[in-house]
Amino acid sequence: CGIIGIVGTAPVAERLVDSLRRLEYRGYDSAGIAALEGGHIARRRAEGKLRNLEEVLRQSPLIGNIGIGHTRWATHGRPSVANAHPHATTEVAVVHNGIIENFRQLRDELLASGANFESETDTEVVAHLVTRELRAGLSPTDAVAAALPRLQGAFALAFLFDGDEDLLIGARKGSPLAIGYGKGEMYLGSDAIALAPFTDTIAYLDDGDWAVLRAKGIEIRDAANHRVERAVQKTTATAFLVEKGNFRHFMAKEMHEQPEVVAHTLAHYLDMANETVQLPELPFDLAKLERVSIAACGTAYYAGLIAKYWFERYARLSVEIDVASEFRYREAPLPADGLAIVISQSGETADTLASLRYAGQEKQHLLAVVNVPTSTIAREAHAVLPTLAGPEIGVASTKAFTCQLATLAALAVAAGRARGVISAEEERGLVHALVEVPRLMNRALDLGPEIEHLARSFAKTKDVLYLGRGTSFPLAMEGALKLKEISYIHAEGYAAGELKHGPIALIDENMPVVVIAPHDAVFEKTMSNMQEVAARGGRIILITDETGAKHAALETEATLVMPDMNPFITPLVYAIPIQLLAYHTAVVMGTDVDQPRNLAKSVTVE
Ligand code: G6P
Repeated sequence: CGIIGIVGTAPVAERLVDSLRRLEYRGYDSAGIAALEGGHIARRRAEGKLRNLEEVLRQSPLIGNIGIGHTRWATHGRPSVANAHPHATTEVAVVHNGIIENFRQLRDELLASGANFESETDTEVVAHLVTRELRAGLSPTDAVAAALPRLQGAFALAFLFDGDEDLLIGARKGSPLAIGYGKGEMYLGSDAIALAPFTDTIAYLDDGDWAVLRAKGIEIRDAANHRVERAVQKTTATAFLVEKGNFRHFMAKEMHEQPEVVAHTLAHYLDMANETVQLPELPFDLAKLERVSIAACGTAYYAGLIAKYWFERYARLSVEIDVASEFRYREAPLPADGLAIVISQSGETADTLASLRYAGQEKQHLLAVVNVPTSTIAREAHAVLPTLAGPEIGVASTKAFTCQLATLAALAVAAGRARGVISAEEERGLVHALVEVPRLMNRALDLGPEIEHLARSFAKTKDVLYLGRGTSFPLAMEGALKLKEISYIHAEGYAAGELKHGPIALIDENMPVVVIAPHDAVFEKTMSNMQEVAARGGRIILITDETGAKHAALETEATLVMPDMNPFITPLVYAIPIQLLAYHTAVVMGTDVDQPRNLAKSVTVE
């Protein structure tokens, strides 16, 4: 979820909505704002996308110079107006990002003391808890101070009080919250991007901090209630909202940006002229690393899985990789001189952030591969390798993924060199291959019309299987994820060699099998697996290269032919037909490509 608050000198409704649009990547199940109208709390809320809230506001404007806003990704309670934030009593309104873990117990306690609940959310207990303290005669700040220690879990909160036009209170435990300093106004928000239209001067609250905001200034207290100062800094987040340009969807635009942003990212890590890797200085020695542990979620996890193959093969460095939600609870022994890498587009994903902190406690070196440089993960890691993909708006990650791969590929080559595994000449060969990626991506994008045609039959299927070996195996899983996310067609990615151990039972003439098979060292093996599919009447969509197409000797429904390339870089380039296939299928099906149901761009709860 995303939160925003303004203690202002001018009307806030429109500005709150403007900020929420920037926070929609955190969820879009519902949105709402509250302001003081004539000194009293008034709310407008709507289920679904922000445009629904805008419509509500058009019909029933909200006046007021102080207010809070929220865009929701549902956790407790389905998406509905009643469950939309802000939650309020007559005394206080609150917006919340995170989860109050002990809300059931608090709810029972509050019900027993006569509170009336209107929603199924965990958040509403916070409003009632503060209200109870207010009714007992406490001031708003004392009421919040009394309520906060009762809350377990991770949260960022913003409070608005009836009758006080010059007071907002923000609190942070686990979930991020930034303070913005304006001219005679103060702001709070989930990230610097939300605050960018108002100010470039911000401070991040530390864990456990809470802050009292008035138009003329701020007072911050830590968890022990001591007054503290937090560093005020200039942010680089820009006030400009990204536009779709001539594309129908952000996802289409972002797929087509890949040659450019990948080139940009590569240029950051490679010395193109000398064909060597040139990483920024790292606060640890790649040559001495014992092991790498990678944690990430979703698409970023698949980027990590591909990197595992690279680190092991080119740097002889063992890699453990987990989805972040498993890593943090698995209690894996982590060696001294271990490196933990977290990979995240947003840099705000709660599980990934928690994994970073866990690895920090376990004394690992902490490296983040992150796309948003102002994000919490970027700030907390010891070292950051930025992916220079630019803002990614489409919920289904595309250009962030390939930029993550570009960054991790450069890191793997650097590690291989540092560890004496690859020679200077081999390094040149690999870097040369990477330099070719943008050009090859452009060739892959040319397959668009062919894939669009294929998507028409794809859109009629219920299940799809994606297969690959080596680095094409994680890519198969990413392909399946892309299709699921935006077309809602069930899909699974499998290691081609595992086919015979289960999924082969699913093969029939209805289920397309997408095979990612560049002509590499495992090509022949994959082809044998495909014969097993063909023998059972399966519909094969083969993605291979010119040499592979010549040697395939396979009956396929369609063959997408890519240019020949160094096997090292195939995941970067083959990502494109995989993305295009999911995209065009979703377009044929008429789904909401950029904001598919139930998902959020960045999931900031565990
Ligand atoms: C969400 C998105 C995925 C994304 C994942 C990790 O689940 O829907 O597309 O891959 O989060 O996000 P991150 O920002 O950490 O890369």
